[in-house]
Amino acid sequence: MTTAIIGVGNIGSPLARHLVGGGEPVVLAARDKTRAETLTQELGQLARAGSVEDAIAGADVVVFAVWLDTIKELTATYARLLDNKVVVDPSNPLGFDGKGQMMRTLPDGQSSGSVVDATLPAGAHHVKAFGTLTADALSAAANRAPRRAVLFYATDDDAAATTIERLIRAAGFTPLKAGGVADAGRLEMPGGDLHQFGLNGALLDLDEARGALARGVPA
Ligand SMILES: NC(=O)c1ccc[n+]([C@@H]2O[C@H](COP(=O)([O-])OP(=O)(O)OC[C@H]3O[C@@H](n4cnc5c(N)ncnc54)[C@H](OP(=O)(O)O)[C@@H]3O)[C@@H](O)[C@H]2O)c1
Repeated sequence: MTTAIIGVGNIGSPLARHLVGGGEPVVLAARDKTRAETLTQELGQLARAGSVEDAIAGADVVVFAVWLDTIKELTATYARLLDNKVVVDPSNPLGFDGKGQMMRTLPDGQSSGSVVDATLPAGAHHVKAFGTLTADALSAAANRAPRRAVLFYATDDDAAATTIERLIRAAGFTPLKAGGVADAGRLEMPGGDLHQFGLNGALLDLDEARGALARGVPA
């Protein structure tokens, strides 16, 4: 199984390191190909770089480690290539205003995950994952001992769930399903109770994560 990571910034780079560390082949792409190529030199034989189109075409799983507006552009451009692939979306509904301040880009109550889901072809297997921690925490917390940190995911798709559980484990974390696309907002910031910021910065082990998951569900 090959995982394409589109975007090698704050999230894409540590994710590529973790997946290669766990034995997963990756193909990396970004707008500027040299950044992807530089990272592949560090990562060795399990990593290669390509254009966005080549990376998506040659992969079984595509992680869009880019901002939400870019995900929308790329899923529209490459819709044909995404059929039958697992599409992983770590995005938050965030952007920057004219003064460079971070702001919510979607109405309250609308998740980034639901927006991405609506842009994908019917044959794509969508899962929300790899966006619940800050980039620093994602980078530092892989293979935590004695108890691994949990990464929540959300999907309505069984094939996507099986694949993301494998990738989360390979990356050095414990997977826990938080629900379906309708629950994606719980994994996003601002406002998601299962995002690290909604957990006061905590990284949870499996027992703690199950508790947090149950606490957020109305009786
Ligand atoms: N940063 C965090 O702490 C954090 C935490 C959780 C979730 N997230 C989410 O993760 C996603 C990525 O965030 P980030 O902080 O990693 O962003 P980032 O550091 O700004 O990196 C974005 C990457 O996207 C690439 N890119 C931009 N436009 C592209 C295009 N048209 N085609 C291909 N690649 C393109 C950039 O490549 P170039 O450098 O070549 O332009 C760069 O490698 C966002 O949706 C964000 O909401 C971020």
